[in-house]
Amino acid sequence: MKDMRGCPARVVRVMAEFFDLSGQVALVTGAGRGIGAGIAARLAGAGAKVAIFDAVRDAAEAVANELGGLAVVGDIRSEGDVAAAIARVEEALGPLSILVNNAGITGRTDLGWNLSIEDFQSVFDVNALGTFLTCRAAIPGMLARGYGRIVNVASIAGKEGNPTLLPYSASKAAVIAMTKSLGKELAGKGDVTVNAIAPAVIRTLMLDGMAPATVEYMIGKIPMGRTGTIDEVAALVHYLASREASFTTGQCYDISGGRATY
Ligand SMILES: NC(=O)c1ccc[n+]([C@@H]2O[C@H](COP(=O)([O-])OP(=O)(O)OC[C@H]3O[C@@H](n4cnc5c(N)ncnc54)[C@H](O)[C@@H]3O)[C@@H](O)[C@H]2O)c1
Repeated sequence: MKDMRGCPARVVRVMAEFFDLSGQVALVTGAGRGIGAGIAARLAGAGAKVAIFDAVRDAAEAVANELGGLAVVGDIRSEGDVAAAIARVEEALGPLSILVNNAGITGRTDLGWNLSIEDFQSVFDVNALGTFLTCRAAIPGMLARGYGRIVNVASIAGKEGNPTLLPYSASKAAVIAMTKSLGKELAGKGDVTVNAIAPAVIRTLMLDGMAPATVEYMIGKIPMGRTGTIDEVAALVHYLASREASFTTGQCYDISGGRATY
């Protein structure tokens, strides 16, 4: 029989070397639950010091306690909260090298022409303005240090436009476009990258707030015929947040079970 004893050690060594985040400081927004909590856990598992930024104090603290991270309570729609969060993280953990913009809301599910300005604006405030504010606050430090990774959680809705989710779809399209603009603006100015991901349906509590017919529509569009998992999303974000992801920026990565066609 072939002697396989050398193989596992080699595999472990390679695994340990790749995507290692030791010494890095990551801030994940909306990490009090769902996909954000999963991303924070994955980054912590790879060695990063993680800050759990969420509007819900109990949720942020519970995840931070579990991961040995830092809870930062605030609203990403607030310029002041975002500035205070980054200052707090850098004071407690060190210079921020990874920013994951995950916090997001779907808003009311209804036909576009039935929506109020408030329905539209409230979703843009969290998904688009919130992402803009955190990027704007984090980038100068990353530029000065010559290193940074920003990962924006967009959605397949931002590429395709889901019916009854007009503000959500349009705000996620804004996140994708913001990613492309920033990626180009930062390219060649040190190793600072900005990428987005576009998940299809991932089974989280967010779905509970949506009309069942809207959720069924979205699952029905996935060729793999299933929802994605938080772990699958976290693995992709981990790669994009790593040093190894140094020749990709301004891109939107698919994680949609084959739904995306571009
Ligand atoms: N679940 C899906 O099917 C799916 C699919 C595609 C994209 N996404 C995106 O993934 C991200 C996470 O989704 P999820 O399903 O885990 O959502 P979720 O609702 O379970 O969690 C969102 C978290 O963000 C926090 N948050 C909301 N508004 C905030 C604000 N203004 N300031 C600070 N924190 C705030 C909430 O408190 C919550 O902890 C969102 O951006 C969502 O649009 C989700």
